[in-house]
Amino acid sequence: MNAKNDRATWLKGASFHCSIEPAPHPRPYRLVLLGAPGVGKGTQAELLGERLGACQLSTGDVFRAAKTLDPCERTPALSQALDFMQRGELVPDTTVLDMVRERVGCLRCQGGFLLDGFPRTVAQAEALERILAEERLQLDAVLSYDLPLERIVSRLSGRRTCSACKAVYHQETRPPKQAGKCDQCGGSLFQREDDRPEAVRVRMEAYEKSTAPLADFYRRRNLLVSISAEGSPEEIFQRTAEALR
Ligand code: AP5
Repeated sequence: MNAKNDRATWLKGASFHCSIEPAPHPRPYRLVLLGAPGVGKGTQAELLGERLGACQLSTGDVFRAAKTLDPCERTPALSQALDFMQRGELVPDTTVLDMVRERVGCLRCQGGFLLDGFPRTVAQAEALERILAEERLQLDAVLSYDLPLERIVSRLSGRRTCSACKAVYHQETRPPKQAGKCDQCGGSLFQREDDRPEAVRVRMEAYEKSTAPLADFYRRRNLLVSISAEGSPEEIFQRTAEALR
């Protein structure tokens, strides 16, 4: 995430305005990041956001932000979505798409966008295609990150996330300067509920069944760019930048 972009509209909904909006970019990138849970999409979105100026639009972050709302402020669909998420299952397409449509202004953003965790099913990808066509916008590429399963599980088990700005750390490979505190905003770090082993298994199954077919969907549209997620975040970022060139 670009530390300068607060993503208020994306995280809280269309009635909230970002206090600092991305500067108009001479070449706004509009990208989708694909890959299994824990492969490092969020980490790459953060690095890409810093260098390209575009916001990381993570659907998972929107659902996690909704957890902090008072239960009476949540719609029934949102409360139900949080139950799905806690178990590691996919949230129903209708709930996800309603939420994205409500934030369509973020897709129009002059800084571009980095969609992280959306689309996740073929139905969501088809809906995104329709939304972008209505907005006369086009995707530049779909970045698909690959890593063997055992490496992914170790990335997930050590992950810690900032409760305020959502920056992502890892206990061993990307520790914060001060234990338990975010380097960017000083917020406290927590372990996600769906990083428990049982929920991780369910998430991997959902990925194989519903999300992996998206690689073919985007390959057929000549948008898929496959990138190895081996190595350090910076090495993977360099590979990504090279692929985008
Ligand atoms: P979401 O929040 O999207 O989670 P995810 O796709 O499961 O992906 P993660 O955030 O777990 O992993 P990541 O690939 O971003 O990895 P990260 O960079 O954090 O979704 C959560 C849930 O919400 C879903 O299960 C579902 O219920 C629901 N949901 C969301 N969107 C939905 C949709 N569209 N439809 C339906 N349901 C939806 O990295 C992981 C760790 O590894 C970190 O600790 C990081 O520091 C570390 N790391 C990263 N890169 C490296 C590296 N190169 N070397 C070493 N460590 C690294």
